[in-house]
Amino acid sequence: MSDVRIVEVGPRDGLQNEKQPIPTTTKLALIDKLGAVGLREIETTSFVSPRRIPQVADHTAVMKSLVRRPGVRYPVLTPNLRGYQNAREAGADCVAVFASASEAFSQKNIECSIEESFARFAPIFEHAAKDGVEVRGYVSCVVACPYEGPVAAEKVAVVAKRLLDAGCYEISLGDTIGVGTPATVELLLERVTKDVPVGKIAGHFHDTYGMAVANVYAAWRLGVRTFDASVGGLGGCPYAKGATGNLATEDLVYMLHDLGETTGVDLEGLVDVAAFMAKELGRPVQSRVGRALLAKRTS
Ligand code: HMG
Ligand code: MG
Repeated sequence: MSDVRIVEVGPRDGLQNEKQPIPTTTKLALIDKLGAVGLREIETTSFVSPRRIPQVADHTAVMKSLVRRPGVRYPVLTPNLRGYQNAREAGADCVAVFASASEAFSQKNIECSIEESFARFAPIFEHAAKDGVEVRGYVSCVVACPYEGPVAAEKVAVVAKRLLDAGCYEISLGDTIGVGTPATVELLLERVTKDVPVGKIAGHFHDTYGMAVANVYAAWRLGVRTFDASVGGLGGCPYAKGATGNLATEDLVYMLHDLGETTGVDLEGLVDVAAFMAKELGRPVQSRVGRALLAKRTS
């Protein structure tokens, strides 16, 4: 038995693409419920431009009203120093910067080149080191880019290593459009782990083609022990057209428990959280495990 860390990204990645405004109280209820079922890292919101991502316009209210559970980390996305400072004023003590392995996606998502994105991150790292704030790093488009097509593992390794050297405690590899397969994930990890220790890597697999759980298994077999997931499989990035949500947290937990891993997450309770959020959004639970376990309860 070993431990796998799950980074729950539902309140951020899961909701950022929702068109209807979700009340701040609902977001806070979601975050609280996720903590109650045992999730220990809950990505809460983003300190980005509300013009670009209207759903996170209430980032300050979310962070200021957050009732923190002991032992739970609540990272938030910060694209630049302004975002970092706003996040700190709102009470954030863990942030994430997000880079891309594709130039085109970097331009569309954060309106600058990869090089410029590192210049924007530099003051975040400086302040974070002084403030004792931990910084997570994301690399988007690790398999392919919605604008450029396939992305070479070499490019991913370069960006991942740069984030690590800049001070990130962990690098989350994002298959933003969910086109990866176990074969591509193996090739990717083979290359990236030459520069970044496997213990510093997290898998962030969107599930557009239904491959996310298989991709986790491939990464797990190669030693990755941290995975991002989103309750109910919510999510998508507004700048990655057609991409669906992340791997559903309940699908991940179901598989990990069967592999003998400890996650600390109560699976039935997690399915209740997926059902709560699905009801709030006015649609059925999307995840396979969620639907199966809910159906079992009524049969
Ligand atoms: P920019 O245009 O380069 O920045 O945007 P700017 O300094 O020229 O400012 C432009 C506007 O943004 C101005 O407002 C600024 O005030 C405002 P306007 O005058 O137009 O109303 N602004 C800000 N507002 C609030 N907070 C800030 C901030 N900075 C500037 N921190 C910027 C650069 C990054 C801000 C913009 O492009 C942006 O907000 N993009 C949104 C990016 C985003 O949130 N994408 C989704 C998350 S990433 C993702 O989902 C992938 C991931 O899940 C991994 C994966 O799946 O691959 C992480
Ligand atoms: Mg994502």
